[in-house]
Amino acid sequence: MKRRVAILISGRGSNMAALIDAAAADPDFPAQIVVVIANTAAAGGLAIAARSGVEALVIESKPFGKDRAAFEAMLQAALDARQIELICLGGFMRLFTAEFVQHWHGRMLNIHPSLLPSFPGLDPHGQALRAGVKISGATVHFVIPETDAGPIVMQGAVALCDDDTPDTLAARVLTVEHRIYPDALRLVASGGTRIDGDVCRTAAQSAPADVLIAPALD
Ligand code: GAR
Repeated sequence: MKRRVAILISGRGSNMAALIDAAAADPDFPAQIVVVIANTAAAGGLAIAARSGVEALVIESKPFGKDRAAFEAMLQAALDARQIELICLGGFMRLFTAEFVQHWHGRMLNIHPSLLPSFPGLDPHGQALRAGVKISGATVHFVIPETDAGPIVMQGAVALCDDDTPDTLAARVLTVEHRIYPDALRLVASGGTRIDGDVCRTAAQSAPADVLIAPALD
């Protein structure tokens, strides 16, 4: 049985599209993207979802103002009505209450464009460049009440160049995001992960020879 997934977005939805495409491309993909929910009608990803034949729903968060619980009650009702088992956040720009996060503990994933726990929050690429790191990347993690934190499911890395700007780095990391989010969802939906406190254990192994060195000397 495929796990029933909702993707929550606020913007262009390129990670959403990568998840939809991965699920559509493989009949054995262990998850079905049932619905895309945006918290604003302006989210560009809504049209992409609809074109892909996935239900695209808008639940405007703005009218709820600071009343997060009321927005979440409406969201939860939409998720319940569709028997959603897993949530994937894809650039969803609304913070949740601890209660909502707790309810979905171990069943809600997020992607962030840095190697967490480094550079959570806004402007992760600017943060990485200012810190002078030589390697950055993207992280898929289970959601906990703290923003951009929680048990790490999968990470992918890229080397930084001296002439990188936040935009060039973002573009390179985005290609990594589009690879690891579908893989992470495949892993989680197939039961290949187990949360052990702050750590996510996984059946998948990295090859011991996998190494990325930057800068590389010829
Ligand atoms: C992605 O880069 C995602 O990692 C980031 O927002 C972008 C959404 O793009 N998320 C965060 O920064 C979470 N803190 P998308 O709408 O094209 O998927």
